[in-house]
Amino acid sequence: MIKKLSISHIKYFICLFLSAFVVIVLSACGSDFDGYVDENVDYTNNTFTVEETNGHKIGVSMPTKDLQRWVQDGENMKSQLHNFGYTVDLLYANNDKNLQNEQIKSMIDSGCEVLVIGAIDGSAIAESLETAKKAGVVVIAYDRLIMGSDAINYYATFDNQLVGTLQGQYIVDALDLKNTQGPYHIELFTGSSDDNNCNFFFGGALEVLQPYINTGKLIVTSGQTTKEQCYTQGWSTDIARERMENILKTYYADGTKLDAVLSSNDSVALGIAEALSAQYNGDFPLLTGQDCDINAVKNIINGKQSMSIFKDTRNLAAKVVEMIDAIISDETVPINDTTTYNNGTGIIPTLLCDPVFADKNNYKEILVDSGYYTEDQFK
Ligand code: GAL
Repeated sequence: MIKKLSISHIKYFICLFLSAFVVIVLSACGSDFDGYVDENVDYTNNTFTVEETNGHKIGVSMPTKDLQRWVQDGENMKSQLHNFGYTVDLLYANNDKNLQNEQIKSMIDSGCEVLVIGAIDGSAIAESLETAKKAGVVVIAYDRLIMGSDAINYYATFDNQLVGTLQGQYIVDALDLKNTQGPYHIELFTGSSDDNNCNFFFGGALEVLQPYINTGKLIVTSGQTTKEQCYTQGWSTDIARERMENILKTYYADGTKLDAVLSSNDSVALGIAEALSAQYNGDFPLLTGQDCDINAVKNIINGKQSMSIFKDTRNLAAKVVEMIDAIISDETVPINDTTTYNNGTGIIPTLLCDPVFADKNNYKEILVDSGYYTEDQFK
């Protein structure tokens, strides 16, 4: 006896058949949305609309667009976060401390669960950081440690002490201070007084250079040897150029040869090189830098800057995305330094990426072959 099929049985088999049919049709046309990465979309231009997101929103607050590296930091992070389905609120604060404070508050109000902040001046955003803490928003300090706030959960950066020692060691090696008598004349430049990184850049470089200054093999002709005397407010190219011009006019007008200039980054080195170009041609003084900005690499190629430090913002962005993914998934956050970075409220768990020495001999390999730049960008 064939058992009479109930209506519900018939409905069940119809649904089963229809769902099988839908699956067959879909797999035949191929889903044009495979997770969050659509190979036909250029994520770097960020004009795409992601049909689906993972429902989480991330705020990325960068200090300025005036320096190329921060533009790359922001764009790299945004495209990599999009690849993981995150909605991203990326804002640049034009080096305006109050604007950055307002932008961070707007990110919190719009529902960002994690904030990545490249602070202009950490002390100027205390109010918005307090708001973040109260709202349970996780804060990652990006490449600049934010001091004095207990709202900072993590720090992601490059080993900035190593940046300084690489710059100092370059000068020691290029002048061959270990094996020559000297004396050699040097001037010292670092970055903005409101950037905690300068403690590491300047400190790292002087750790290497100070012994030679103490013995007189290196002479800072201007006598400007303290960090305070060597600050370049806002990392400004113009301020660096004016200070270098004044030093040359005051201390080198008698024909004293300047042998080397320590500069903590490329935007400062750019101003120094402009001032030096008015006085030096073939025998250009050694000049250090950091960030491998395109203009700096052009100066390295044409002999007006000796070296820079490559901080691959693609790597740092990728690491920050890993940290964010772990935070959102409530998993262990990848960090590799739990002792160095005390922001005044305690040690901040940190993820350090490695900076890389760059000069005329290896810039093609590390910058062009790696796809960071094209050769044409240096023309
Ligand atoms: C520093 C950063 C450097 C340099 C400088 C100017 O904090 O670590 O890479 O870019 O700011 O923006």
